[in-house]
Amino acid sequence: ITVAILFGGCSSEYEVSLKSATAVLENLDLEKYDVLLLGITKEGQWLQYGGSTDRIKNDTWHQSKECVPAFLSPCRQVQGVVALHNGVMMTTRVDVVFPVLHGKNGEDGTVQGLLALAGIPFVGCHSLSSAICMDKDIAHILAASSGVKTPRSVTVFKNTDPDNVIAAVESLGFPLYVKPAKSGSSLGITKAHNTADLVKGIENAFYHDNKVVIEENIEGFEVGCAVLGNGDVIVGEVDEIELSHGFFNYNEKYSLETSRIHVPARIEKEMAEKIKETAIRLYQVLDCRGFARVDMFVTPTNEIVFNEVNTIPGFTTKSRYPSMLRAAGISYKELLDTLIFLAME
Ligand code: DAL
Ligand code: MG
Repeated sequence: ITVAILFGGCSSEYEVSLKSATAVLENLDLEKYDVLLLGITKEGQWLQYGGSTDRIKNDTWHQSKECVPAFLSPCRQVQGVVALHNGVMMTTRVDVVFPVLHGKNGEDGTVQGLLALAGIPFVGCHSLSSAICMDKDIAHILAASSGVKTPRSVTVFKNTDPDNVIAAVESLGFPLYVKPAKSGSSLGITKAHNTADLVKGIENAFYHDNKVVIEENIEGFEVGCAVLGNGDVIVGEVDEIELSHGFFNYNEKYSLETSRIHVPARIEKEMAEKIKETAIRLYQVLDCRGFARVDMFVTPTNEIVFNEVNTIPGFTTKSRYPSMLRAAGISYKELLDTLIFLAME
């Protein structure tokens, strides 16, 4: 089976993708799979890369002599990657693509649409569900329509009158979270304690997206649930984020300096079951396939509130998604085999 690994990406989560892709490459069983590497630079250039994993890890891969311009063949008769070697186009047939890309231009349905057009099976959600899950505003509307509780929020566009925003968020009360509607790894998200923070936060979030969601603060703690499968799904152990202060922002997510992740979560068995059921319901409502990490809050009164779905969750061996499945008895290597199998099903 020839597996093409897509990594990097024209996204603010480019660096996260390099980490995830390194782990995937270090763990793929090379007796089972032929691997073709397709890197996307921060600027959006596609390159077939024939060098070492180390150069992906330290982000020098794109300077390597072993890079040649490449693209996916959009023609279904030539199912694969076309690369330009010394002016000669060469096609490599590909059986399955694993887009190890996070955020914009990778996790948001764009690459998934391209792969669907090319007729190449790929790991993870299809374009519609990727796009829905990427947009916190739309995902929340759909989750609420299925009876899952969501944070109260106000959606703001660039042309929304600032006075109207301040009036609209009054009933939500401070602190508030200001989030670009489509972002990952908490990039562009700020916590607002007053109107001045709010105004600054909105301005900042608009650098990331042209739609911003202002959400009420949910008391309690955040949990995640790893869902794996197409129709019939399995779930990992629920995890829990323990924060000592602030919120789970980009630095904290990747340094874990003041926070801890507990797998399994320190909650009653019944609560864990309820979280798993809610995660599966959301996975189905949002039409997910392959895999996704469903993030939720648990309130002091034991209510479950939807936060978001990550359709290509962080995928290092220590990341939350693989850790939750490992706690349920599925190793990282088994997980890779299962994802590839599910993609080709
Ligand atoms: N967006 C990051 C990669 C995550 O959700 O894990
Ligand atoms: Mg996310």
